[in-house]
Amino acid sequence: MRFKCTMGLRNTLIVMALLLSVSTIPFSGAASLKSHAFFNETGELPCHFPNTQNLSLDELVIFWQDQNKLVLYELFKGQEKPNNVNPKYIGRTSFDQDSWTLRLHNVQIKDTGSYQCFIHHRRSQGLVSIHQMSSDLIVLANFSQPEIRLIANQTEKSNIINLTCSSIQGYPEPQRMYVSLNTTNSSSTYDAVMKKSQSNITELYNVSISVSFPIPPETNVTIFCALQLEPTKIILSQPYNIDAKSPVPSPPVPDHILWIAALLVTVVVSGMVFLTLKKRKKKQPGPSNECEIIKVEEKESEQTAKRVELQEPERSDEVQCDVNISKTASDSKSATDF
Ligand SMILES: *[C@@H]1O[C@H](CO)[C@@H](O)[C@H](O)[C@H]1NC(C)=O
Ligand SMILES: *[C@@H]1O[C@H](CO)[C@@H](O)[C@H](O)[C@H]1NC(C)=O
Ligand SMILES: *[C@@H]1O[C@H](CO)[C@@H](O)[C@H](O)[C@H]1NC(C)=O
Ligand SMILES: *[C@@H]1O[C@H](CO)[C@@H](O)[C@H](O)[C@H]1NC(C)=O
Ligand SMILES: *[C@@H]1O[C@H](CO)[C@@H](O)[C@H](O)[C@H]1NC(C)=O
Ligand SMILES: *[C@@H]1O[C@H](CO)[C@@H](O)[C@H](O)[C@H]1NC(C)=O
Ligand SMILES: *[C@@H]1O[C@H](CO)[C@@H](O)[C@H](O)[C@H]1NC(C)=O
Ligand SMILES: *[C@@H]1O[C@H](CO)[C@@H](O)[C@H](O)[C@H]1NC(C)=O
Ligand SMILES: *[C@@H]1O[C@H](CO)[C@@H](O)[C@H](O)[C@H]1NC(C)=O
Ligand SMILES: *[C@@H]1O[C@H](CO)[C@@H](O)[C@H](O)[C@H]1NC(C)=O
Repeated sequence: MRFKCTMGLRNTLIVMALLLSVSTIPFSGAASLKSHAFFNETGELPCHFPNTQNLSLDELVIFWQDQNKLVLYELFKGQEKPNNVNPKYIGRTSFDQDSWTLRLHNVQIKDTGSYQCFIHHRRSQGLVSIHQMSSDLIVLANFSQPEIRLIANQTEKSNIINLTCSSIQGYPEPQRMYVSLNTTNSSSTYDAVMKKSQSNITELYNVSISVSFPIPPETNVTIFCALQLEPTKIILSQPYNIDAKSPVPSPPVPDHILWIAALLVTVVVSGMVFLTLKKRKKKQPGPSNECEIIKVEEKESEQTAKRVELQEPERSDEVQCDVNISKTASDSKSATDF
C-alpha cells in the first residue's frame, strides 16, 4: 500500500528487494526441494543462499538440522562448532562454501527425510534470521542386474523349465519381477509372487521369484528376467538362450567345465609321457626329472619296485615313475640323515 504514495528509483529498489525475499519463502514452505543420493555415497543438502549483501562467513551463523531437530553441522563466525552437532552426524558432513551446500557422506536409508538450513546474521542487536530452506533427501540403492538360475533337477524329456531369478541390495522396494519368454514370433510373460527380504541393518531389499513354465521344443527361445522398479523403469537380466529341439538348456559353458576338460587333457598327456618313459627305462634305466614331484613312502615303493622287477604286465606307468623318485628321494634322505 505504501508504495503507491511515492514513485521513484529508490522505492522501486525496495520493492525488488521485497519481491526477492518473498520469492525465497516458497522454498522453505511445502514445496521443498528434493535431493537424491545413493546408498553409501554422498548426499547434498542445499541452502541456496543468494547472499545479495555479500556477507562474509564471519558475520553469519549457519546450521543444518534434520526433521527431528538434531543438528548436523554448525558454522559460527566462519568456524565449525561441533558442540551442538548430534553424534550420529559427527565426521559425516562437509560444508561447500561456494554453493552453500552441506554434503552428508556415507548416506544410509535411514537418512531419508527432510532437512533444514538456517542462516543468521550477527548484528549489534543479536542474531537475525536472514535465510532458511528445506530440502528432502531421498536415498536410493541400485538393485543388481537380475540373474537367472535354472533349477538343475529337471528330467531330460520334460519341456517344463524351472528357474529362479534374483536381484539384490536395492531400495526402495520394486514393483514387480517377471520372466519373459521370447521366440521369433511370440512372447509370453510369467509372473510369480516376489519374495522379498529386507536387511534390518541397511534396510536394503533382496528380491527373487521362482517360476516354472513350458517351453516350445521346436523353436529357439530366449528368456529374460525383468525387475520393474517404477512403471517406466525396468532392469533386464542377461538373455538366457535355449536352442531348438533340445529341452535341456545350453547356457554358455561355465568355467569349471573348461577346467575339468583341461585337467582331463593333462592327465591323458601325462599318461602318454609316463608310457614313453617306461619304454625308455627298459633300455636305459635312470631317474626321470618329470616324475620328481610325486612322493611315495619308502617301504611301499620298495615293494612296488620288487613287483616291477617281476614285470607285472598291468602295473601302471605311474608306479614305474614312483619307483625312480622314491629311490632317488630315499637315497638323498639317507645321505642327509647320516
Ligand atoms: C560402502 O562403500 C565402501 C567404499 O566407499 C565399500 O568399501 C563398502 O563395502 C560399501 N558398503 C556397502 C554396504 O555397500
Ligand atoms: C564480496 O566481499 C569480498 C570481501 O569480503 C570482496 O572481496 C568481494 O569482491 C565482494 N564481492 C562482491 C560481488 O561484491
Ligand atoms: C544407479 O543407476 C543409475 C542408472 O539407473 C546410474 O546413473 C547411477 O550411476 C547408478 N548409481 C550407482 C551408485 O550405482
Ligand atoms: C530332484 O527331484 C526329486 C523328485 O523329482 C526330489 O526328490 C529331489 O529332492 C530333487 N533334488 C534336488 C536337488 O532338488
Ligand atoms: C519346479 O519347481 C517346483 C517348486 O520348486 C516343483 O514343485 C516342480 O516340481 C518343479 N518342476 C520341475 C519340472 O522340476
Ligand atoms: C513365425 O512366423 C512365420 C510367418 O509368420 C512362420 O512362417 C514361421 O513358421 C513362424 N515360426 C514359428 C517358429 O512359429
Ligand atoms: C520379446 O518379444 C517382444 C515381441 O515379440 C518384444 O516386444 C520384446 O521386446 C521382447 N523382449 C525382450 C526382452 O527382448
Ligand atoms: C541379500 O543378499 C546378499 C548377497 O547374497 C546377502 O549378503 C544379504 O545377507 C542378503 N540380505 C537379505 C536381507 O537377505
Ligand atoms: C536384526 O538383526 C540382529 C542382528 O544384527 C538380530 O539380532 C535381530 O534379531 C534382528 N531383528 C529382526 C527384527 O529381525
Ligand atoms: C537356433 O539357433 C541356432 C544358433 O544358436 C541356429 O543355428 C538355428 O538355426 C536356430 N534354429 C531355429 C529354429 O531358429
